[in-house]
Amino acid sequence: MLAGIIDHVEEGVLLLKGDQVRWLNPAARLMFPALEQPVGRPLVDVARDHRIDGLALRARESRLEQAAEVELPVSGRILQVRAVPLADAEVALLVRDITRLRHLETVRQQFVANLSHEIRTPLAGLDLAAQTLSAQLPADGDSRLFIDRITQEAERLANIVFNLNQLAALDAEGIAVEHLPFSVDELVRALIDRYQARAAAGQLILRAEIATTGSTALGDRAKTDQALQNILDNALKFTPAGEVVITASADHDRVEFAVRDTGPGIPSRDLSRIFERFYKVDRSRGGLPGSGLGLSIARHLVELQGGTIDADSTPGAGTVIRLRLPAASLTPA
Ligand SMILES: Nc1ncnc2c1ncn2[C@@H]1O[C@H](COP(=O)(O)OP(=O)(O)OP(=O)(O)O)[C@@H](O)[C@H]1O
Ligand SMILES: [Mg+2]
Repeated sequence: MLAGIIDHVEEGVLLLKGDQVRWLNPAARLMFPALEQPVGRPLVDVARDHRIDGLALRARESRLEQAAEVELPVSGRILQVRAVPLADAEVALLVRDITRLRHLETVRQQFVANLSHEIRTPLAGLDLAAQTLSAQLPADGDSRLFIDRITQEAERLANIVFNLNQLAALDAEGIAVEHLPFSVDELVRALIDRYQARAAAGQLILRAEIATTGSTALGDRAKTDQALQNILDNALKFTPAGEVVITASADHDRVEFAVRDTGPGIPSRDLSRIFERFYKVDRSRGGLPGSGLGLSIARHLVELQGGTIDADSTPGAGTVIRLRLPAASLTPA
């Protein structure tokens, strides 16, 4: 009865004894059509792929489940393969064809990339026209109010487009990431310098707390800088009064940057979701501008470098966002 059911599932199922195929369901026959009579033949002749054969071998020898994504060279199909060890040198091979899924992901990424690229030009035109008009209008009155509004909204749109572009670039595979030592203190001080004026304009104190001077992170300075800017932008935007503190500390194998604010905080039910794309806490309150992309970009940038990012918050008291990166070894190689 079980075999009857397995005959109808979409996942390809092959049962192996040693390196030979003992049994396979119709879905597996469609995925691996090379042989008319696959039963009793070695897996490598049936699947025609050494990576799949190697996966089954590793599962058999290690007695541990193995998984891999394999793109077949001739058909271009993308398969997700799991090799599950059973008793007596038997292995079950479970194969899912995820070609369509991967294709849809690519289409989505390209769509976002194209859209954000296409919006740039008309947006720049709009901004230029508004600025030209603005120069010709009297310093106050209704038309001044509206033209300023147009300029602000154009700027907000440009920001969203910039973020979408950046996400699209991060999604595209093969993005270059540096793994070089850079100074933790210097990065924090540069950030403080850059944002001091904005903090002062909002009546906020912005300062640094550096616990271990002279520590060095191993990663991509520009990407870390960008991630911290997105975090700092939030802290300054959401904190109505008080202070924003950037801290830096290090132990022997990690460095940690943290941005702490005295803002409204984030409810615990939202805390795990703020790094998702487009996620904003309490959208209905509207209020502060933003598209909900800043932190998802920050997470991307940090994880590309082998780092981690997390958030801690006490509603009513403030928020801390922590970013950890590998520390550069003190003894030069
Ligand atoms: N320091 C903070 N204090 C309070 N809430 C925060 C803080 N940082 C982030 N949040 C919440 O997390 C959400 C997601 O932040 P994120 O930076 O991704 O988006 P955004 O700031 O709304 O928009 P964008 O960064 O794209 O301009 C914010 O909308 C806000 O609700
Ligand atoms: Mg933000």
